[in-house]
Amino acid sequence: PKPTQVNEDSKNKQLEQYREDGQGEYMTTDQGVRINHTDDSLKAGQRGPTLMEDFHFREKMTHFDHESIPERVVHARGSGVHGYFQPYDDSLKKYTKARFLTEPGTRTPVFVRFSTVVGSRGSADTVRDVRGFATKFYTAEGNYDLVGNNMPVFFIQDGNKFPDLVHAIKPMPDNEMPQASAAHDTFWDFASLMPESTHMLMWVLSDRAIPRSFRMMEGFGVHTFRFINDEGKATFVKFHWRSTLGANSLVWDEAQKLAGKDPDWLRRDLWDAIEMGDYPEFELSVQLVPEEDEFKYDFDLLDATKIIPEELVPRRPVGKMVLNRNPDNFFSETEQVAFHPGNLVPGIDVTNDPLLQGRLFSYIDTQLNRFNSTNFTEVPINRPVAPVHNHHGAGFMRMTIGKGKANYWPNSIGNGCPMMTPEAMGGYVHYMEKVEGHKIRARSESFNDHYSQATLFWNSLTEPEKEHLVSAAHFELGKVERKEIRRRQVANFYKVDPQFAALVAAGIGVEMPVDQDSEPTGNFVKDDASEKIKKGKS
Ligand code: HEM
Repeated sequence: PKPTQVNEDSKNKQLEQYREDGQGEYMTTDQGVRINHTDDSLKAGQRGPTLMEDFHFREKMTHFDHESIPERVVHARGSGVHGYFQPYDDSLKKYTKARFLTEPGTRTPVFVRFSTVVGSRGSADTVRDVRGFATKFYTAEGNYDLVGNNMPVFFIQDGNKFPDLVHAIKPMPDNEMPQASAAHDTFWDFASLMPESTHMLMWVLSDRAIPRSFRMMEGFGVHTFRFINDEGKATFVKFHWRSTLGANSLVWDEAQKLAGKDPDWLRRDLWDAIEMGDYPEFELSVQLVPEEDEFKYDFDLLDATKIIPEELVPRRPVGKMVLNRNPDNFFSETEQVAFHPGNLVPGIDVTNDPLLQGRLFSYIDTQLNRFNSTNFTEVPINRPVAPVHNHHGAGFMRMTIGKGKANYWPNSIGNGCPMMTPEAMGGYVHYMEKVEGHKIRARSESFNDHYSQATLFWNSLTEPEKEHLVSAAHFELGKVERKEIRRRQVANFYKVDPQFAALVAAGIGVEMPVDQDSEPTGNFVKDDASEKIKKGKS
């Protein structure tokens, strides 16, 4: 079959069919009936009760009553923007058959949503938090989503811990405070009991967590993914976005003041830049690791709390993304867009990273809750530009009108349904990784080092960056009421760098007691670090 072509404007043209500028000659009901008066409801007499038969009032009020949908359970607050991606050359062809990465002439339309993670939809932009950086590529071969963050690692190693992490960091279950900050006991209780979070905590306490602008952040796919080439050969890959404006941050005092004076700071900055024609540009680069080198490093490629240091595997530039158009409608586009790390195209596949595996279930599941229907993929912003043919049908708000009688496969009737087998169409083939093992609810020992890369991060900072990080720790941990939690976190920081731990301890009123040989607290051990502290010191 002839390959579908896309260009920069393909998505825009598709969206055009759905746009409504509200500039019609008459105001009408949803049935297209002209409305003659909308300021008063229909009454029995001038001072009488409103009548049930007032279809205009009922329709208007019902729409209003149903305007809100559940906000995202995480990343509720975000800003969306349209643009395109274009590869520099075809040099990745050796590694991947994904055409949007290897055809230099093709500009693939994208929709990007930047977000904060913890706060609700109405929370302030400049809080200390991870930022989401999710990109939907409307490629000729279907939608590909790179659902990343502005930090290259994550808090936990296994998807099964995600609900705990989010419960711990979201506002308190009793009084819903604080709105969008990790400055409370539950988060630090959890974090200090989960030493695997230490590397990510260093990033979160650093200035990376208070970006100056969405236009000035890096982006990371975090997990190790797989490229697959035409011969079916796989290569491990990590994805990176770099802004041409660099990575710039606010300082904490600015961030706090802005949260009060202009809670829309990041949203406004992005919107205004694009309105002024100052289009943000991000370079995509990849780190490639041959399959044969899977076990070459002293960390596990499947462990999302680890980076691949660029000294070991340099980044390789792939192409550029330009963000050049604001959405027409926040709800229809930014709110209704639905990303999913499992939206893959031929040439890109997942790995067994247990965090990624957890995500593969979670996103569609939560979107079913958010949209109340499987048909959210038909909403304009989520529709692929590539043609969609299958035997799905029905469900709430089905928009496509399937023609013909055969909505099953195999069929010999064919009318309206594709007759080609998927094989003949060159469809997506999952990488044939050999998998065998005992069913076991456990974690690989190769995931056990929770501190070396945290130390690497600390050592990479300049003096002012270190000072900022220490003051951030003073601020956040200083809000923690329970001293044993503060101590336990200092014990973990001690294993990153004793001097760093001492600096933190000094600002939060806990002694610097950790005995030199103290072991990591261990994932499921309740309070052994603080026990050790007590024993060691007193
Ligand atoms: C959003 C789950 C880890 C990046 C979400 C949403 C859920 C979720 C339920 C809301 C989606 C929606 O309502 O449409 C999880 C789970 C994780 C995990 C279960 C771990 C097992 C991560 C990681 C990253 C990430 C490691 C970064 C690499 C994002 C982003 C969004 C998001 C950017 C917002 C997407 C948007 O703008 O709509 N996640 N997440 N998540 N997640 Fe994750």
